[in-house]
Amino acid sequence: MFFSNFVMGRLGRDPAFFDHVEGSLAEHVARQLRHAGVDLDPADNPYLHWILKGDHGAALPLARRAEHFDTIRSRLDRLDLRCGALEAFVATGEKADGFNLSDIFEYMDADIFAGVYGSVLGAANPGARPVYWNMMVPRRAPAAYADRVERLVVVEDTGKAQDKAFFYSDFVVEQLR
Ligand SMILES: C[S@@+](CC[C@H](N)C(=O)[O-])C[C@H]1O[C@@H](n2cnc3c(N)ncnc32)[C@H](O)[C@@H]1O
Repeated sequence: MFFSNFVMGRLGRDPAFFDHVEGSLAEHVARQLRHAGVDLDPADNPYLHWILKGDHGAALPLARRAEHFDTIRSRLDRLDLRCGALEAFVATGEKADGFNLSDIFEYMDADIFAGVYGSVLGAANPGARPVYWNMMVPRRAPAAYADRVERLVVVEDTGKAQDKAFFYSDFVVEQLR
């Protein structure tokens, strides 16, 4: 009942999401939960563990596992942390080879998304990969930029099948031509 189109619609979720999923929203959530709980190993899923029990237990995310501590520490000099909006980075004139953008495009309306997406391509080296997720709102390369990127379907499908963040409705991997 909680994940029904009616209740989620009343909670202010963008109806565009309902167009995106196969069947009802509740069916989508049930399908994703089944995938995370049956097809994948639920004991190994940090997100599921957190949602159900309020902590990670033994299912730590990769970055918090003891076996990765030394690798991360020895490479700290590779990190350059900038706090702020993506829009600020893409305006610096710097270029990147990859973008892990979480689901930030659904915090923007369609017009702003198209503008920011264009700025991301402007800040990308040839062959760079923008990677992002959709949760409630469908977002893929806007028509104006679609011919500048290739959609890496095999990489997307492989990633989706093993994505422990099972609650997303879409996982997008594109590559600049
Ligand atoms: C679903 S969360 C993902 C969090 C992150 N991947 C993690 O594991 O902690 C999306 C994040 O994107 C941030 N965000 C939203 N719009 C953004 C923007 N335009 N630029 C940078 N970050 C943004 C939000 O504040 C939020 O923290």
